[in-house]
Amino acid sequence: EQPVAGHIAWQEGKVDAAQRAWLLGQLPATVWLTGLSGSGKSSIAFELERRLVAAGHAAYVMDGDNVRHGLSRDLGFSPQDRNENIRRIAEVAKLFNEAGLIVITSFISPYRQDRDMARQIIGEERFIETHLCTSLAVCEQRDPKGLYRKVRSGAITEFTGISAPYEAPLEPALRIDTEQSSLAQSVDAILHRLQDFLGSA
Ligand code: PPS
Repeated sequence: EQPVAGHIAWQEGKVDAAQRAWLLGQLPATVWLTGLSGSGKSSIAFELERRLVAAGHAAYVMDGDNVRHGLSRDLGFSPQDRNENIRRIAEVAKLFNEAGLIVITSFISPYRQDRDMARQIIGEERFIETHLCTSLAVCEQRDPKGLYRKVRSGAITEFTGISAPYEAPLEPALRIDTEQSSLAQSVDAILHRLQDFLGSA
């Protein structure tokens, strides 16, 4: 990890978290979705965002493919690059949380150590680890982007679940199998878990 240069000091602002919470009528949190490609992360993330905004909440999705078009466009899928990807995402989620938003992150985030780093950066009390535990067989059968087919033909290497590891969370806040739960049920379960953050707004 890069140390912060000694001549860079932290500057305090004049607006605190309580004022932002009062303004937005909610407490910030990060719903950290993790799971295999095809497990339902993006579908759940965008539907959760829609439901939150429809209910008057300030929410924002950070999605894997989108972030890899910008913030992480220089990164691939080696363990080191995935680590850096997750570090950047966690730092941005932290900033959005500090701005008062409910953040939904949608990344495979396959390594336990990287998710623990994200938890540290974002803060334990704001970090809601949600494992989409849909089986590899089901994800491969869905293959919404045709990626598993390409992996099997050798066109993609280091693919999570096939030729790169996926380390399931040991004690996630939530575990959802999208083969068993509908999209609406999955989002309901997360909204239920978020209740303490949503206040009366
Ligand atoms: S990670 O591991 O959290 O850094 O990955 P993430 O940023 O979520 O990016 C995953 C999406 O990239 C596509 N893709 C791959 N995934 C896994 N392994 C390999 N080798 C790979 N190559 C490309 C794939 O579309 C993933 O999106 P999802 O939405 O998970 O299918």
